[in-house]
Amino acid sequence: MCGIVAYVGHRQAHPLIVKGLKRLEYRGYDSAGIALLNDGLNVYKKKGKVSDLEAYLKDQTDLNSTIGIGHTRWATHGEPNDENAHPHYSATKNLAIIHNGIIENYASLKQELLNKGHVFDSETDSEVFIHFIEDIRRNNDLPLEEAVRVALTKVVGAYAIVIMDKDDPNMLIAARKGSPLVIGLGKNEFFLASDATPIVEYTNEVVYLNDYEIATIRDGILDIRNTDDVPTNPYITTLEMELEAIEKSGYDHFMLKEIFEQPRSISDCMRGRLNASNGHLVLGGIREYANKLEKAERIIMVSCGTSWHSCLVAEYFLEEYCRIPVEVEYASEFRYRNPIIKEGDVVIAVSQSGETADTLAAIELAKSKGAIIFGVVNVVGSSIARTSHEGAYTHAGPEIGVASTKAFTAQLIVLFMMGLMVARKKGTITDSRFHELLVEMEQIPNKVEEVLKTALQIEAIADTFKDASNFLYLGRGYNFPVALEGALKLKEISYIHAEGYPAAEMKHGPIALIDQEMPVVFIATRDSSYDKVVSNIQEVVARKGRVIAVVTKGDSLIPKMAEFVIEVPHTDESLMPLVSVIPLQLLSYHIAVMRGCNVDQPRNLAKSVTVE
Ligand code: G6P
Repeated sequence: MCGIVAYVGHRQAHPLIVKGLKRLEYRGYDSAGIALLNDGLNVYKKKGKVSDLEAYLKDQTDLNSTIGIGHTRWATHGEPNDENAHPHYSATKNLAIIHNGIIENYASLKQELLNKGHVFDSETDSEVFIHFIEDIRRNNDLPLEEAVRVALTKVVGAYAIVIMDKDDPNMLIAARKGSPLVIGLGKNEFFLASDATPIVEYTNEVVYLNDYEIATIRDGILDIRNTDDVPTNPYITTLEMELEAIEKSGYDHFMLKEIFEQPRSISDCMRGRLNASNGHLVLGGIREYANKLEKAERIIMVSCGTSWHSCLVAEYFLEEYCRIPVEVEYASEFRYRNPIIKEGDVVIAVSQSGETADTLAAIELAKSKGAIIFGVVNVVGSSIARTSHEGAYTHAGPEIGVASTKAFTAQLIVLFMMGLMVARKKGTITDSRFHELLVEMEQIPNKVEEVLKTALQIEAIADTFKDASNFLYLGRGYNFPVALEGALKLKEISYIHAEGYPAAEMKHGPIALIDQEMPVVFIATRDSSYDKVVSNIQEVVARKGRVIAVVTKGDSLIPKMAEFVIEVPHTDESLMPLVSVIPLQLLSYHIAVMRGCNVDQPRNLAKSVTVE
């Protein structure tokens, strides 16, 4: 969702900010804008892509400025258009703001300001916010940072903001609550952004702003204090991200690159943590609270989207090996239904971005009731990583394509490692089974590599089905959540309606949909429910449905029934989702490309959903 980029220093701000906004495009947005101090405080903004803004800027004469703020907006209050795009001016046009998040009490603030004669150019809560700040400043004759502080104690909602002042040309004020903000520290220059991707090519020293902190950068000095006006000591973190990780490196799309990166990202995730030859399995981030996990009477998992699917797979795994009951919850439902949480309950929160608003809120709720939170997160330093008691990073590297791929498989690896650690400690797994699974896990990168070799075959299948209007995905056991994930991938990027179901449930509804027009993807690898799935395939074939089956290499039965088969190497049943999901990622990718869809930035979707 919305992206922030700001700069103050000695370089030309506008090309740097535009480049930064392009790096944030993956988050999802529908308009973009920038404010510069060049002969006054000037705002340039456009509906559409950053390239539309760039084209518009080309027609401007003087863009000379070494300070600036830029924004990509994902519409919440008011449709995507030029007026609603950020930055927004204050009433006098002396201040400009960029804002991520939502001000929930904006309507009452707006009414108050309208009564005082304020006129608004947009429908946004963000414009109200900056008018409100200026109003406080003028009425009380306060320095801007103090007016911002007072305003923040009065607004309800989530925000990351950056403000510029026409009369203070070397100053930026930033603040956050609930929406991420990173400050990059250069030599006499500062870079601000929603995540580190726009910053990494200039500096690897960053400060992650915490909730309720206000940063004032004035004349090269960074001052951070909280909303009670108490100065805080900035904690400087060194970024480990490589520039190459956020570029396409010759691939047509980030999504394809990320699918093909999986052998490496899965290895990276296990590196130093798992070694089958000596039975080593340690997640360094889970120490102090490890016994809470082992003694848990139940585990609640909260997440959204693809991360929710990895939790469903983990439910099978944790229950099977740890013998602990697991409840998998959509974070958005969990938080609003007065859930039963006891002191000492364990919550595992799973998130690629670490910023998903619903997941964060579910964590806060569980924490307030005494639960211990374990975060399984990809983005280092993100809000969920910081608010969890303990956890483990997935180390998949930056995931730029909106449709999650490598983050999913890395989440599974971490959750499997967590499960095996607990099972071992509890004695709910035999030594031989434990070692067998470690050995199999080490083989997974090679097996994924093997599946990736079917890409051309999958492209041909995609060509056959690219014009379909519906798809069904069916699987059982560990492959049931894979069916859900396959369907989600397809609808996200190709806009084809797709549904995932447990194969046996087909008879209770979806079977009515089956005719010669309906492609049905079966995840039918050799496992304990293989025979049952074969029967389900027959039921579809009998109704002339068109079957595409993901099967274990060497299967001789299903190829006789299915129109298309994609072979994947054999692995342990409980690890199969790591392998069987890969063809489904490729299938949705190729179908979306053939339909001319914007694979990396599908319409209406955002990578990091920072509003509820
Ligand atoms: C958005 C993304 C999905 C993602 C979901 C959860 O909807 O488009 O790809 O699975 O958010 O995000 P998280 O970062 O918490 O895993």
